[in-house]
Amino acid sequence: MRMYDLIEKKRDGRALLAEEISYMVEGYVQGSIPDYQMAAMLMAIYWRGMTDEELAALTDRMAHSGDTVDLSEIPGVKVDKHSTGGVGDKTTLIACPIAAACGVKIAKMSGRGLGHTGGTVDKLESIPGYRTSLDRREFLETVKKCGISVIGQSGNLAPADKKMYALRDVTATVESIPLIAASIMSKKLAAGSDCILLDVKTGSGAFMKTPKEAAQLAEKMIAIGRHAGKRVAALITDMDIPLGNCIGNALEVWEAVKTLRGKGPQDLTSLCLELAAQMIRLAGEDSLEICRKKAGEALKSGEALKTLQSMITAQGGDRRVTEMEQMPKAPFMREVKALESGYITHMDTHQCGMAACVLGAGREKKEDRIDPLAGIVLRKKTGDQVEKGDILAVLYTSREETLAAAENRFRAAVVIGGERKERKPLILARVDRETTWYQGEK
Ligand code: URA
Repeated sequence: MRMYDLIEKKRDGRALLAEEISYMVEGYVQGSIPDYQMAAMLMAIYWRGMTDEELAALTDRMAHSGDTVDLSEIPGVKVDKHSTGGVGDKTTLIACPIAAACGVKIAKMSGRGLGHTGGTVDKLESIPGYRTSLDRREFLETVKKCGISVIGQSGNLAPADKKMYALRDVTATVESIPLIAASIMSKKLAAGSDCILLDVKTGSGAFMKTPKEAAQLAEKMIAIGRHAGKRVAALITDMDIPLGNCIGNALEVWEAVKTLRGKGPQDLTSLCLELAAQMIRLAGEDSLEICRKKAGEALKSGEALKTLQSMITAQGGDRRVTEMEQMPKAPFMREVKALESGYITHMDTHQCGMAACVLGAGREKKEDRIDPLAGIVLRKKTGDQVEKGDILAVLYTSREETLAAAENRFRAAVVIGGERKERKPLILARVDRETTWYQGEK
């Protein structure tokens, strides 16, 4: 077999066979296939796409290119959740403890922030002492004891994805639905859960800009998961507006805890309850109505907060972060006030995320250090009325010199107009076993 022939085949729009895909993935990981040939193949896939059979084979080979996690010794159904990334998205810290408090087992490997989007591992590392790196035994024992453990991705999980992602990043081939689907699902399959709930974000703060693209990605990922024998469902959710009011690592942990206390923002609370209900449903046979009820009770009774507390303690974190009434505050802050009166008609959520990165909440370069206290607290969001001089948001940082640039970015992201604009529904569609239900249909 020759990589040259495979590139030519894909370039001409013909489907690759499973054994050709194995040859390509194995050769690339081992180094016998060079970057330039894989780059040409990725570009051919970008233009020609992949059949469901090709995609299943590619994902399977990528998932088995390194370590896989065996969760079989944990009794019960293990459910994973994946968000395609957004701004202010702290749902893992809320929805997963709610589902775990209802008996779902969660052994989750999360990622770091990528571009303008935040990452759960960075958020958890803002908790003093919390260890995001556990060995296999400790990881499994934590799930057995607490019902949940959230750690960073182990070094050798899906190395084919790691290498291909780095190459895609510099060859303009990230934005390909089959390649994104294979990348995400290879890591989820290697992580070993029985069921996977996907939260596919769409809008100005998401990688998928339209609900149509998000539904296409969801359908591809669901097809891959089912082919691998997993139960998979997806929600398509709005990321045209930051989720909740806090953006930034320690701020988001604080807002997650507040939400688990029943005092969180309405958008964040309702999305997390729905995500948790979907996870409970995937794990069992109860109707969605019953799962929603169970999720609501776990939140109301405080069991979900206790579950988060037990995980934080088991992983060495300072439990006091879950008892703080006051928001953690960085040494420097700046209020951003409205320069005119009207209604907020749009928030460029990508730019809101970038403003938080400028303050230190995200990385510009791989080696940059996160400022855990940096971030933004939103006081107004799309649809809200503002008077000139009202505080739109408060910026926080440990690096005073970042405030001016962050303020400029944030201001540029917020559009104030004369007419009130309704907020979009947060949950736009649910892609279930065989069907896509659009908002309001069911
Ligand atoms: N996240 C991933 O893990 N992979 C992609 O390709 C895009 C987003």
